[in-house]
Amino acid sequence: MTAIRSVVLGCGSYLPQQVLTNADLAARIDTSDEWIVQRTGIRERHIAAPGEFTSHLAINAAKAALADAGVEAQSIDLIVLATSTPDNTFPATAVAVQHGLGIHHGAAFDLQAVCSGFIFALATADNFLRSGAFKRALVIGAETFSRILDWSDRGTCVLFGDGAGAIVLEAQEQPGLSSDRGVLTTHLRSDGSHKTKLFVDGGPSTTQTVGHLRMEGREVFKHAVGMITDVVEDALARGGITARDLDWFVPHQANKRIIDASARKLGIPEEKVVVTVHLHGNTSAASVPLALGAAVADGRIRQGDLVLLEAMGGGFTWGAVLLRW
Ligand code: UT7
Repeated sequence: MTAIRSVVLGCGSYLPQQVLTNADLAARIDTSDEWIVQRTGIRERHIAAPGEFTSHLAINAAKAALADAGVEAQSIDLIVLATSTPDNTFPATAVAVQHGLGIHHGAAFDLQAVCSGFIFALATADNFLRSGAFKRALVIGAETFSRILDWSDRGTCVLFGDGAGAIVLEAQEQPGLSSDRGVLTTHLRSDGSHKTKLFVDGGPSTTQTVGHLRMEGREVFKHAVGMITDVVEDALARGGITARDLDWFVPHQANKRIIDASARKLGIPEEKVVVTVHLHGNTSAASVPLALGAAVADGRIRQGDLVLLEAMGGGFTWGAVLLRW
């Protein structure tokens, strides 16, 4: 029996021009390149210019994804944008992106699941496409975390950066087999009992301010590997495969030690793991599509490859998507 699948037509990325290195940070606060590289793997991050907003980053990534897919913006009828750093409290940054792309039909909305945002957005778009409600979607992760960092807190400000990544998804009829192209299975989880371990201490309803990111890093670290490997194992089981069958593992890029420990626990060899955290730090919802974009651009990920995406972040939220490119 045939099945409707959400097939990836193309992907694109955007990183702001300004690069902030570990050495730049060490000149401002009590930290060092050695500490940051050893504990996180991060070497540099990109910072949005004054007047450059999350929607601008998202529009650039979306245009690159549309060009890569070879389709017109007018063919898009759904935009799901994952972000925790919207241009404004409302309207959704997705409608600014829709307007920027000259689209006046279909639907556009934001989705907020912090670092797991792209995985949640991809799963949401996949459900809409498979239901027949929409035909072609832009799924975007875009963030300007530099705007919510406390630049005097060395425990957090060295970790994050700005950026955006996007993919174009299309509903296509496939044979209904495990060899189908497109999204094969999605798994989403949340547990609000951890909500104070990684949060922003402001908001419209509480303080009427934007607030700053606060994190109990060691606590987040403690939970990350277990949560990631649990949800990935569920995705593999539902897909009827083992880690050995994967061509590529594209994890959330928060910390190289978390990526390495998760891959080791899952039995995924290092050469199949896509790592870009050294180049842009933790870009929250943009992290997975930025890593995906890098591996597609350099020819590692090719049509037909089996790819596992995962992320974990504030909430806690965590999730995994198994797809065939
Ligand atoms: O996107 C998902 C959410 N985020 C994450 O996945 C992040 C999860 N957590 C982590 O990645 C790690 O916990 C961190 C990278 C944040 C921290 O690494 P850690 O090995 O857990 O270090 P720690 O917090 O236990 O701190 C160790 C020491 C402390 O000094 P003392 O108390 O041992 O004297 C910190 O004050 O390192 C100190 N420290 C720093 N030193 C230099 C903390 N930040 C810095 C810094 N530079 N930037």
